[in-house]
Amino acid sequence: MADKGGLEGIVVARSRLCSIDGAKGVLIYGGYDVGDLAEHSSYEEVCFLILRGRLPGAEELDRLRHELAEARPLSEETESVIDMLASHAAPMEMLRTAVSADSFDDPDKSSNAEEANFRKAIRLIAKMPTMVARYDRRRRGLEPVAPDPELSHAANFLWMLSGERPSDQAARTFDVALILHADHEMNASTFTARVIASTLSDMHSAITGAIGALKGPLHGGANEQVMHLLLDIGGDQDVEREIRDRLARKERIMGFGHRVYKTYDPRAVILKRFSRALAESSDEPQWFTMSEHIEKAVMDEKGLYPNVDFYSASTYHYLGIETGLFTPIFAMSRVVGWAAHVIEQHGDNRLIRPSSEYVGPPLRPYEPIEQRKTPAAA
Ligand SMILES: CC(C)(COP(=O)(O)OP(=O)(O)OC[C@H]1O[C@@H](n2cnc3c(N)ncnc32)[C@H](O)[C@@H]1OP(=O)(O)O)[C@@H](O)C(=O)NCCC(=O)NCCS
Repeated sequence: MADKGGLEGIVVARSRLCSIDGAKGVLIYGGYDVGDLAEHSSYEEVCFLILRGRLPGAEELDRLRHELAEARPLSEETESVIDMLASHAAPMEMLRTAVSADSFDDPDKSSNAEEANFRKAIRLIAKMPTMVARYDRRRRGLEPVAPDPELSHAANFLWMLSGERPSDQAARTFDVALILHADHEMNASTFTARVIASTLSDMHSAITGAIGALKGPLHGGANEQVMHLLLDIGGDQDVEREIRDRLARKERIMGFGHRVYKTYDPRAVILKRFSRALAESSDEPQWFTMSEHIEKAVMDEKGLYPNVDFYSASTYHYLGIETGLFTPIFAMSRVVGWAAHVIEQHGDNRLIRPSSEYVGPPLRPYEPIEQRKTPAAA
């Protein structure tokens, strides 16, 4: 077993989807640098690339936009599950449950054939934003806003959330955030999805499991923890001293460090730019300024770089998005990566079933209960 555990450095699959150079800070989807995609592309185009392995032609992109728009409304059953959950389930609990429930009526639910999986992938990409927006409005006591087929994937989500047309800057910022989260090699939630798919279980089961893995604070849950940290410190304190004190107490600063990147996460470079631009036109510039101070203190003390979750927190906050939705938004984007990995796994499957090293007691005789010494009685 590798010394540190956690499957560090172990190759568990061959994949054509996504690669990371952790030393150079390069992230590639299907041969394209994520920086180029963020600059020139859209989330819809990136979905096509990740699912089909190439960029779409104009007609193909139009067709995908149309299919997404058609698939955005939820079934009455899924709507009622979300409405029931809105008052008492946390956002990621809702999403995990709603995605699972949405499988019941999926016309392709009993097929793992490649084209059925593509259709399910499109439906999940389309519906997850509608689920999140409906849930958020219901829990705020507001009527849900129907999806607008004329809007882009990113702009439509902001519209369904707020009931207001987003500015071009807000829609483009959110579009880029979705692009940057769309896939990330063999991260914990993607591995979870592939393990589930490898049993020949279905797409919805794999995505439901992946949402469960993403929820944890060491993975997707970190973006919310970053915002809590910013709000907790507030604007008036000596931010760098506060961070040094926390690190001296052995606290982890969320949004820093990475299993693969040993330099600046390329996604954080881009999100930092967007966060700075939003701060400049905001009356709360402190969230970006504080973030920069935190970055400096963590680099000075621990030599750790920010990861994707660090500047996505202030970016989403500037877009007026409530902190509890940050991780569901991560899931709304990553669903395309999860789905593509499920399709790849189903296309060339062998059950993922590793081994463990046994460190328990040696073989011993069974003791009848009346002769057994339990720790309390010992
Ligand atoms: C992402 C993460 C889980 C990767 O961890 P990993 O590869 O397992 O690395 P380890 O947890 O073994 O950490 C290695 C060292 O760096 C330190 N470290 C790593 N991330 C840290 C952080 N965010 N804050 C403070 N110290 C950190 C660890 O304490 C450890 O120090 P030590 O060797 O003195 O004990 C880890 O960096 C982390 O917990 N980050 C915060 C959560 C986060 O932002 N997650 C989102 C990832 S995209």
